[in-house]
Amino acid sequence: MRKKNIFIKTFGCQMNEYDSNRIYDNVSELGFKKTQDQANAECYILNTCHIRDKAKEKVYHEIGRVKKLYREKKKPIMVVAGCVAQAENDEMLKREPYIDIVIGPQSYHKINDLLKEHEINLKQEETEFDTISKFGYFDKIKNNNDKISAYLTIQEGCDKFCHFCVVPYTRGPEYSRPFGNIIDEAEQLIENGAKEITLLGQNVNAYSYVENSKEYRISNLINHLNQYSELKRIRYTTSHPRDMTDDLIDCYSNNKKLMPFVHLPIQSGSDRMLNLMNRKHTVDDYIKVYEKLKNINKDIEFSSDFIIGYPGETEKDFQYTFDLIKKIKFINSFSFIFSPRPGTKASNLKMIDKNIAKGRLITIQEKLFNNQIEFNKSMENTSIEVLVENKLEKQNKYFGRNKFLSPVIFEANENDIGKIVNVKIDSSNQNTLFGFCDKNMRAA
Ligand code: SAM
Ligand code: SF4
Ligand code: F3S
Repeated sequence: MRKKNIFIKTFGCQMNEYDSNRIYDNVSELGFKKTQDQANAECYILNTCHIRDKAKEKVYHEIGRVKKLYREKKKPIMVVAGCVAQAENDEMLKREPYIDIVIGPQSYHKINDLLKEHEINLKQEETEFDTISKFGYFDKIKNNNDKISAYLTIQEGCDKFCHFCVVPYTRGPEYSRPFGNIIDEAEQLIENGAKEITLLGQNVNAYSYVENSKEYRISNLINHLNQYSELKRIRYTTSHPRDMTDDLIDCYSNNKKLMPFVHLPIQSGSDRMLNLMNRKHTVDDYIKVYEKLKNINKDIEFSSDFIIGYPGETEKDFQYTFDLIKKIKFINSFSFIFSPRPGTKASNLKMIDKNIAKGRLITIQEKLFNNQIEFNKSMENTSIEVLVENKLEKQNKYFGRNKFLSPVIFEANENDIGKIVNVKIDSSNQNTLFGFCDKNMRAA
């Protein structure tokens, strides 16, 4: 029997990327095969993100695009998944008849049933928070991801309820997967060829799993993964400053595979704003974590997230944020103007003037981008360790990342894929380093 094609367009964070891959693993049982050709699929999934901007309208816009692609062909089964699906649920089916299935992130274990029921022409919506059953189900399905650098979700959801953020409503309460099941999946990924594993969670360092009265934390996972000789690098994201406990900080002193790069969102450099945002940490708490990590290993570099123009932000508050980025030289960061999210506490607050917010964003980004450019420049004419991930399409160049997650494009050989090689950097821009494989200094 001919396999049916399925295409997933993924938006948002790494957790959505992981989910899309797990959906591919799951639907293969129904005879669906992953395709890159979005214009020739029997099933088309939009895996959506609700974090900012006009997320909902973007989804309807995307569906308009799919309709055009399939104007002359049989319509694919149209599935809306991800965080917008969770937030909007059956409203989407009512508004857009082209949609066949709406499914939230904690219901992906039910997707095969929904697809089967669709064959008898049923429109379906499934947005229960059923996280335990979901992971229980997926634990029995092989993870077929064979990338050199693989994602592995260990924790999902959030109990922190920052006033601006939609995640606790779209991903549900915090849930940590059983330690043993994560290790089994990690072993599968390593068997598939992974040389780097990034542990994922909306609050990944809040990971806590108790079995026989023993608590397993993310530090236990990192130290366990360290033992696999085929695995070369370990990362995790996204962490919350409040959950940066000493056991995790200690991993940086005794775990050589844990990369010296920490993405640690602060959002604002003003305590007043952090309090209004319900962040549950102060600037001082953040700096203490930063200093502890730097004391353990001075080579650790940081990146962060900033929300600019949160309701109530004054020039003085903004100045504190600016002062913070002068103090901590983040090598990479995400900064966005506050976007009111439906259902969150901050959604009804009075917005600050749009032009003032825009001006502040430009000011902060100029500084952040300059830091990034300077940091990349400092690597020119040096040799750095890069994990080679893949060959670039239609080019005789390869792609990899250095220890700090910066993308590197360089000349190398096919048999370098999966290895850590030394790359001599000869130029750089804000986002990327360029160079060639330094054969005289071959690494692991
Ligand atoms: N859990 C992580 C933490 O607390 O640091 C962040 C996860 S969230 C998916 C990623 C980032 O999106 C946040 O750090 C924040 O900067 C940004 N974000 C979330 N809600 C936002 C909003 N309403 N407007 C603008 N940016 C937002
Ligand atoms: Fe959102 Fe805050 Fe939870 Fe991060 S900690 S996911 S920003 S509510
Ligand atoms: Fe977006 Fe949901 Fe991730 S809102 S950032 S896809 S958790």
